[in-house]
Amino acid sequence: MISIINSFGLDGINGYIVTVEVDAGNGMPMFEIVGLPDIAVKESRQRIKSALKNTKIDLPAKKYVVNLAPADLKKEGAVYDVPIAIGVISSLGLVSFENLSESMFLGELSLTGEIRKVKGVLPAAICAKKQGIKNVFVPKDNAAEAAMVDGISVFPCNSIKDIILHFTKENVITPIEVDVKQYFNASEELECDFSEVKGQENVKRALEIAAAGGHNCLLIGSPGSGKTMLAKRLPTILPDLTLEEALEVTKIHSVAGILPQQTPIITKRPFRSPHHTTSTVALSGGGSVPKPGEVSLAHHGVLFLDEFPEYKKEAIEVLRQPLEDCTVTVSRVQSTMTYPCNFMLIAAMNPCKCGYYGDPNHECTCTEHQINQYLSRISGPVLDRIDLHIEINPVQYDDLEEKSVSESSKEIKKRVNAAREIQQRRFKSDGIFSNSQMTTKHIKKYCNLGTQENLLLKVAFEKLGLSARAYDRILKVARTIADLDKSDDIKTKHISEAIQYRNLDRKYWNR
Ligand SMILES: Nc1ncnc2c1ncn2[C@@H]1O[C@H](COP(=O)(O)OP(=O)(O)O)[C@@H](O)[C@H]1O
Ligand SMILES: [Mg+2]
Ligand SMILES: [Zn+2]
Repeated sequence: MISIINSFGLDGINGYIVTVEVDAGNGMPMFEIVGLPDIAVKESRQRIKSALKNTKIDLPAKKYVVNLAPADLKKEGAVYDVPIAIGVISSLGLVSFENLSESMFLGELSLTGEIRKVKGVLPAAICAKKQGIKNVFVPKDNAAEAAMVDGISVFPCNSIKDIILHFTKENVITPIEVDVKQYFNASEELECDFSEVKGQENVKRALEIAAAGGHNCLLIGSPGSGKTMLAKRLPTILPDLTLEEALEVTKIHSVAGILPQQTPIITKRPFRSPHHTTSTVALSGGGSVPKPGEVSLAHHGVLFLDEFPEYKKEAIEVLRQPLEDCTVTVSRVQSTMTYPCNFMLIAAMNPCKCGYYGDPNHECTCTEHQINQYLSRISGPVLDRIDLHIEINPVQYDDLEEKSVSESSKEIKKRVNAAREIQQRRFKSDGIFSNSQMTTKHIKKYCNLGTQENLLLKVAFEKLGLSARAYDRILKVARTIADLDKSDDIKTKHISEAIQYRNLDRKYWNR
């Protein structure tokens, strides 16, 4: 008898249905898996035989053929252990599984018959719902993750025996119910706060704009000026994640297999700070079994690259496509895979090798050539893709001494959230979330300027020798500044502030 079981495969961060067909027939005893399986899938039969044996099911000597369809897509991992095992039991007629066509199975088997957690369960559950599958049988440790999707029943399973007893009605599994809102409402203790940073009001203002509009920024300043300290506090003022954004972020972390069990949904914007020794593949994603890289793990959050020029040249350049497209395409044998990566890049750097070029209090000991060489590690195209260039001067003694407390992160975040809400309303039907994501089409629609504003921008453009890309970036930043100001129109003061953040190329790169 042939039995057909639904399971799933991953294409990027989206799931698709894989049907597992099992035929237990007469003929030479064998156990074959066909349909482009990888090694982990091929090894499945050993785990399944052992797991069934330890569940007191002895496989009669028969000809077992397992087909994973669609056959043209490569199947990865051990996720098919459970559906294949169920298919085998069903095709032998040992248990009658009701409503198989409305159920999905996934999970890795241990030799003892226990079910182990797997990657990508959230996309699997989303795919099940889309395809009208009502019951999803998942490893117990992945159950909360699957339960984020409403409208399906999620059955947490400890072992293959659990599933059998459920269908024989000897011990029915209760579907798990999770209230998504509970994770969003959990209050948090902040580890650090902007109020600890003395002075630097202009830098804090720039970071507030960056957070409000999701803009990339470059922090440049001498050692000890507080670049790392300021960047580390950015997460404390990032706008709250919407449910839609949270599900997208969670999908990526689920596919990467790094979703913590206690937090089945990610409700805080990610803050990723990979070290400068990180490999290019770890940054952009890919590998022989493709995985999302740091740029995708930072989706809807922050990718913080401290000591930016210290990263490999190749790693810096690999950021160009993701920064431009908000997606990253990684190639693999015979095909490509695309992951979303709408991240905010925060790059921090010293202006030169010794660190003190341009510092008002220290002399720079580098030669002209050394300074140029250091700065040239950040290429023009990369620099061009950064909305805000922020110079940090060391804090003044008076500011450090100052007793009065500076504004807390909570206060700043209120304004950031208000500006982000304006953007959410604006882009409701555009499929984007923030000003930084605007394409030329959106800029035309939402960044109309009056005569005076146009003139100001024209003069600045000619005087500063800005590129066309810089022009668009100034408009996006000006839109965010106007949103923080609760102004429908972009006014001259918004434009002139936005222009200030494009000055560094001239001071450092184009001297
Ligand atoms: N504005 C400031 N207010 C309070 N402390 C500061 C400030 N700027 C720098 N510091 C102190 O100096 C230390 C070094 O700053 P850091 O962020 O590591 O500098 P950078 O990354 O620019 O080299 C910080 O850990 C902090 O203790
Ligand atoms: Mg630092
Ligand atoms: Zn120097």
